[in-house]
Amino acid sequence: NSIPTREAILNVINQDQMTKTEIEKQKAQAAAYAAKLVPDHIVLGLGSGTTAAYFVKAINQRINDEHLDIQCVATSVGTEKLAEKLGMRMLDVNTIDQVDLTVDGADVVDHQLNGIKGGGAALLFEKLVADMSKQNIWIVDQRKYTDSLAGHILTIEVIPFGGMGVFRYLKENGYQPEFRFKDNGDILETDSGNYLINIIIPKDADLEKLSIDLKKQTGVVEHGLFLNVCDELIIGGDQIKTIKRS
Ligand code: 5RP
Repeated sequence: NSIPTREAILNVINQDQMTKTEIEKQKAQAAAYAAKLVPDHIVLGLGSGTTAAYFVKAINQRINDEHLDIQCVATSVGTEKLAEKLGMRMLDVNTIDQVDLTVDGADVVDHQLNGIKGGGAALLFEKLVADMSKQNIWIVDQRKYTDSLAGHILTIEVIPFGGMGVFRYLKENGYQPEFRFKDNGDILETDSGNYLINIIIPKDADLEKLSIDLKKQTGVVEHGLFLNVCDELIIGGDQIKTIKRS
């Protein structure tokens, strides 16, 4: 009931800052580890988001230091801009048949290496590039490795025309849908000009069934459930943890 002391407030702030610092450190550690695994002479998929950005910088450093022959494909306009700014060799995704390896982040990953992506609104290009990739490595901080995807937010990308129909379907089926907005209140548009709807994955959800059901809805372009995609998960930390799909 009493007003907290200045020290008590600073303690809380410092703890928060330490946690954020630790999270960023883990993202960078996972990214640096993944960058060392990339072989020469490949087509490399570059993921999207803050963790993937650490990777883009780390692999760019290696490409320059070791004069590697690596061409890249981006999974978002944001990643494309970063890679171009760094001077990386970029390919148009429509000019290639496959990608050798993609390194990407994730919002949450379960013990079977199924995951949710799309927190950064790039799920459509990310899934397209992941599907073209012979190998997919995900890099995450420790918060994101979890027992179950249930209870987590899943993003669904819908075309603007008829997006409300998908929203109604989700509401009628108890998914508590919400459109995603920007901080300024405008509706968030993806790199493809689509809208995003968030739902919560229900407890005991059958993920395969949910994935198929969502894709069946007319107006749904893609969703952020990535099942059987990740081949290897790298979790940052002073002791890096790697988990391969069994
Ligand atoms: C973007 C994604 C990102 O990979 C995911 O949201 C993780 O982002 P971050 O590394 O910033 O936490 O799927 O659509």
